[in-house]
Amino acid sequence: MLKQETVQIIKATVPVLEVHGVEITKTFYRNMFQAHPELLNIFNHTNQEQGRQQTALANTVYAAAVHIENLEAILPAVMLIAHKHRSLGILPEHYPIVGENLLKAIKEVLGDAATDDIINAWAEAYGVIADIFIQVEEELYQKAEGNGGWRLFKPLKVAKKVVESDLVTSIYFENEDGSPLPTYEPGQYISIRVKVPGEEYLMNRQYTLSQASAKEGYRISVKRESDHTPNGKVSNFIHDVLQVGDLVDVSAPAGLFVLEETAAPITFVSGGIGVTPLNSMLQSLKDDAANEVNFIQCARNEKVVAFSDDIQGKVNALPNATYTALYSDEDKLITTELLAEKVANNTDVYVCGPVGFMEAVIKKLHEIGVKDEKIHYEFFGPAMQLAK
Ligand code: HEM
Repeated sequence: MLKQETVQIIKATVPVLEVHGVEITKTFYRNMFQAHPELLNIFNHTNQEQGRQQTALANTVYAAAVHIENLEAILPAVMLIAHKHRSLGILPEHYPIVGENLLKAIKEVLGDAATDDIINAWAEAYGVIADIFIQVEEELYQKAEGNGGWRLFKPLKVAKKVVESDLVTSIYFENEDGSPLPTYEPGQYISIRVKVPGEEYLMNRQYTLSQASAKEGYRISVKRESDHTPNGKVSNFIHDVLQVGDLVDVSAPAGLFVLEETAAPITFVSGGIGVTPLNSMLQSLKDDAANEVNFIQCARNEKVVAFSDDIQGKVNALPNATYTALYSDEDKLITTELLAEKVANNTDVYVCGPVGFMEAVIKKLHEIGVKDEKIHYEFFGPAMQLAK
């Protein structure tokens, strides 16, 4: 337990750190990567360049510190991050490196204002927060291993590459020896770690498994991106360089954006490549599932839309399901009226797509009175802030 005095210092200094947040975290990352360049094999460099990871990590440490007396309040957010960390192979020995460099950065930016008392208080608080992450992550590592899986990364063979649309290609992975891969929950993702030619460090990316758990292997579906987007270099490597038969380092499935068992109606709302987890969820429903199911798929046009045949096939197989495709190039956008038609009082709504799309959909859902606990969503890319 932290001393009351320490807690008071933490609470008093959080607003100060937040004011200097970006500067502190930029300093932190610069120093940490100088001292430990090997960590560039783990972090997403594009997120770094865009300052996204900086914001995510710093906000979380501050938010956790504010709740330092009642850390259960932030456990749901800790779990989400811990899944991401576990899928990236973050280990206990990494935490002191982050802690040391964060404290150094606070000192460097705040100068004399960062008294010994303040630094000591933050060192103690960071220790408490880090211990929680380490413990939760160890439990997740054990769970991943227990499910016939593995702890860190394992080389899997590219069994098949299938072009799904002008923009999207699927990759099928299987065990080298042909033995079955562990099952997963629909909506979960894997991390892949690749050496992209011309890049000094390894690159890690998360991709959602885009079909229901199947014995024959894992499928990811990757959108071609411009080199400057977070997934650009790796997605283009997957599209253009990766060949059937190649081995790729893959971590065991992770993630909490999963289909919850329910007898209630379910409405899926996807934007662009956000269709991948939702297709996996839809496909995992039993063909005789009695739920009313609605799938609204938004995309730019027919050429780039992915899985619409798969989705329609499943919708036709289910006893009580509808499919709506909306193409923005034809000026067909999602409306409050359509959502009101497809979402009843007790419907569970699953939303996935680009940030702007999700914000617009969630706002419309609120307008028609859908309660937060019925809206399930996941942003692609790092969470910008901890759920309050
Ligand atoms: C991702 C917080 C420690 C490596 C994240 C995210 C948060 C976060 C909020 C974004 C999650 C998301 O994408 O949804 C924290 C906190 C830490 C901590 C509060 C300490 C208590 C560490 C350590 C490492 C690490 C010790 C390894 C040295 C990463 C990496 C990502 C990540 C590689 C993925 C994002 C990217 O590649 O840009 N962390 N983290 N974190 N964290 Fe941590």
